[in-house]
Amino acid sequence: MADLDDIRDGKNFGLGVAAKTEGFYLKGLNNSDWGLKNRLSRIFNKKSGRTVMLAFDHGFLMGPTSGLERIDLNIAPLAEYADCLMGTRGMIRTSIPPTCTKPVCLRTDTGTTILTEMNHNVLIAEQDAIRMNAAAMAAMLSVGEKGTEDKTIANFSRLVDIGMTYGIPVMGVTAVGKDMARDARYFGLASRVCAENGASIVKTYYSEGFEKVVACCPVPVVIAGGKKLPELEALELCYNAIQCGAAGVDMGRNVFQSENPIAMIQAVGGVVHDNLKPKEAFDLYNTLSAKKAPAKKAVAKKK
Ligand code: R5P
Repeated sequence: MADLDDIRDGKNFGLGVAAKTEGFYLKGLNNSDWGLKNRLSRIFNKKSGRTVMLAFDHGFLMGPTSGLERIDLNIAPLAEYADCLMGTRGMIRTSIPPTCTKPVCLRTDTGTTILTEMNHNVLIAEQDAIRMNAAAMAAMLSVGEKGTEDKTIANFSRLVDIGMTYGIPVMGVTAVGKDMARDARYFGLASRVCAENGASIVKTYYSEGFEKVVACCPVPVVIAGGKKLPELEALELCYNAIQCGAAGVDMGRNVFQSENPIAMIQAVGGVVHDNLKPKEAFDLYNTLSAKKAPAKKAVAKKK
């Protein structure tokens, strides 16, 4: 209760101390709203300015692909090592415990599977993204794909309108058209289209000349891992992307299809946050994998 007889005069006005007016730590986002910046601060590490997002949204297009057969068994245990979880509402709601407080980048578009053409892309209701406490929303832009480009760009623009209404950042996922060359020219164009349409984060693929893709995209760029590679090669991919200015990864198959996903996500984190060289990160992967192996045997013996 406000006590009228206890109004004490303030003494600590910090006179002579200038009010803090520091800029925001993520590229191109200084002019964003407080809520949007606050959500981004949950996704991007404030010390490194980068993120390790764990992507497990593949199933909405591909079904139960290898490593994603059981999200509760294969993905939930990795959550503690990720900075952000990127998945669909169905998988997160059913298979990630709500007690997990990692920020969620919710896959917000849907419509078709790999069995047909990607031409009926739609967005889920924003109320559900808010209900799921999404820290970011992601949708695909299929640039250069006839019959899909206009729909996905329209969807994406609408999603940014929604995101701006509620202060939720939107990540543009650059899809690779079937007939498109997977080079810096294409990824640079697709990434730029995402940013021009209001993306706060852009997810694209690493390629030769990636520094140009990053340079002409005014917001943080994270890379997808793509098809499963041998662990050292995947770590080299991360390293090269970081050297070119990437703000981290949104990686799936190269983590959850690894022989040791928990070791792999930590090795990726070493490259992204601690600037480990690929060989150093691979050593870390091997050390962590070796630690895991005896524990497995001990369990087997007990039985
Ligand atoms: C693509 O639309 C999805 O967002 C995937 O999650 C993405 O490509 C990242 O996964 P991966 O590292 O397996 O390529």
